[in-house]
Amino acid sequence: MCGIVGYVGKKNAQDFLISGLKRLEYRGYDSAGIVTFDAKGKATLLRSKGKISDLETKVAKNKRTDTVGIGHTRWATHGEPSERNAHPHKAGKIYLVHNGIIENYKELKSKLEKFHTFASDTDSEVLAALINHFYLDGEYPLSNAVVQALKLVHGTYGIAVVSELKPTEVVVARSGSPLVIGIGHGETLIASDASALLGHTKKAIYLNDGEVASITADSVEIKTLDSQPVSAKVETIKTDLAAIQKGGYDHFLLKEIMEQPASLTETLRGRINLIEKTVHLGGPNLSDKELKSIKHLIIVGCGTAYHAGMLASYYIEQFTNDITIEPVMASEYRYRHAHIPDHTVALIVSQSGETADTLACLRDLKSQGVKTIGIVNAIGSTIAREVDGGTYIHAGPEISVASTKAFTSQAVAMIMFGLTIAEAKGIKNSFIAPYVEEIAALPNEIDNLLQTLPDTIKALAEKYKSYDHAIYLGRDVSYPAALEGALKLKEISYIDANAYPTGELKHGPLALIDDRFFEFVLLPKDNLYDKSISGVQEVLARGGHVVVITNSAEFSLPVDNVIKITTSLKLLAPILMNLVSQLFAYYITTAKGFNVDQPRNLAKSVTVE
Ligand code: G6P
Repeated sequence: MCGIVGYVGKKNAQDFLISGLKRLEYRGYDSAGIVTFDAKGKATLLRSKGKISDLETKVAKNKRTDTVGIGHTRWATHGEPSERNAHPHKAGKIYLVHNGIIENYKELKSKLEKFHTFASDTDSEVLAALINHFYLDGEYPLSNAVVQALKLVHGTYGIAVVSELKPTEVVVARSGSPLVIGIGHGETLIASDASALLGHTKKAIYLNDGEVASITADSVEIKTLDSQPVSAKVETIKTDLAAIQKGGYDHFLLKEIMEQPASLTETLRGRINLIEKTVHLGGPNLSDKELKSIKHLIIVGCGTAYHAGMLASYYIEQFTNDITIEPVMASEYRYRHAHIPDHTVALIVSQSGETADTLACLRDLKSQGVKTIGIVNAIGSTIAREVDGGTYIHAGPEISVASTKAFTSQAVAMIMFGLTIAEAKGIKNSFIAPYVEEIAALPNEIDNLLQTLPDTIKALAEKYKSYDHAIYLGRDVSYPAALEGALKLKEISYIDANAYPTGELKHGPLALIDDRFFEFVLLPKDNLYDKSISGVQEVLARGGHVVVITNSAEFSLPVDNVIKITTSLKLLAPILMNLVSQLFAYYITTAKGFNVDQPRNLAKSVTVE
């Protein structure tokens, strides 16, 4: 949610800022801007509404040789997307870029209005004006002015600030919004996430909440808001450049769907013992005794991560017998007055590891003494660092806003966590073994599906692209898979898609069926197959336009379309079917000509509430 970059060094700052912003564009893409400084402090501010490519055109007409600068790609919170609301914002001699929300901006703004003429509707400009107020036109060191200002601020921020009076220094700070400092040779780089630094340096310092850093080309000085010095820990960025490139695909989304056999293999690496039919997860750091004592499992996430948690909860219930499992949406759970029983463990699920609502739940649960276990993709992210223990899903960077490969890996990682609980509780291996075997077989099964089905699904998408509404149906484990399928379709194709449990049709959704709708039914050959068939018949009897995804060879109802999947999986077939939903959403969206990787109004990493 908003991306920040910065550069101090000897090379062309505009070049790094634009290339860095392009890498961070998934975080927000309604407007963007950069400011660079020459050695005398003369600033060149370039901003534009729209994508980074619009800004790039502007920069091409205003090329500079400046070697210091900061930049920003925006996901609007306060004020419409426009050039005047785009960052950087200027106040006096300073320029600021900000990711986050200043909650008390109104109150601060009313006090600052007599000193500063506001040019935008943003909360961020208020922060710029506040810092400038303490800066006293250079009488006070910039980092001290930043500290004074931040002490008055409520909310979240990742910021970078530069003064025209000292254009060799960038001051950065964070609270709740990520900030990484890249250490190069004679240059220092700043970004909201490490992907923008790849190709420049592999050495990075991850700033913690409540820290402020003064950065020059060859130094980084970090202190806390209480002015205590912090000794920086330099870490190695493990991601490769290739992992954040399209690798020959037209879109990141298709690349990420297609790489699931590989990404899931990484999730499983070293964690499955096929001889003993057991799983081993080191990261959660729970002893057998602790695992055995778990009575209640809360699974917290947002969007796709929540659906993955819900899907895993259906499975975990199947092979454990004395724990209750509660998947919860973080945005709701953080304000509930939930009673937390003894022996509760919470799984905190997040691809980015930065989602504000999920992070708030993590902190709240920790403060109540609940043991928290992360199911996270982004290495070194805030959630990964704050949980008590965790399992990285190792799916590799996910760039497209709609989450695909992370869902599959999150779901499987959580099922594996459930299996470790079951093992510790002494559940018979004969119960557990079929799950372990199917998990191990899943990457291959996914590969087979991805080799054979795309053309069929592309043709199906062509048929359904002009519908306005879709109903996704599934029962038991397929219900969360249906929810996820509907989310994928609505977020990228803008078709109004909702999911219902097949058994709930008669309690309302059947009233919707008409020619504007199609019904997308996930129909695994499981113990509820016959009951789900009745649901399909109910829809057919009312003239529905039904598409069925099934692994049942004998399915023969006269529906509009059937996608038959050949698989040896019995338990995990719904996870496989979800890939059909992913491909279907992808092909419908490309058929409609929409931006697949950056759907309107959304952002990938939602670091504001
Ligand atoms: C946003 C993204 C979704 C994602 C959700 C949770 O809404 O657009 O794709 O599922 O955030 O993100 P997280 O990084 O916490 O998994």
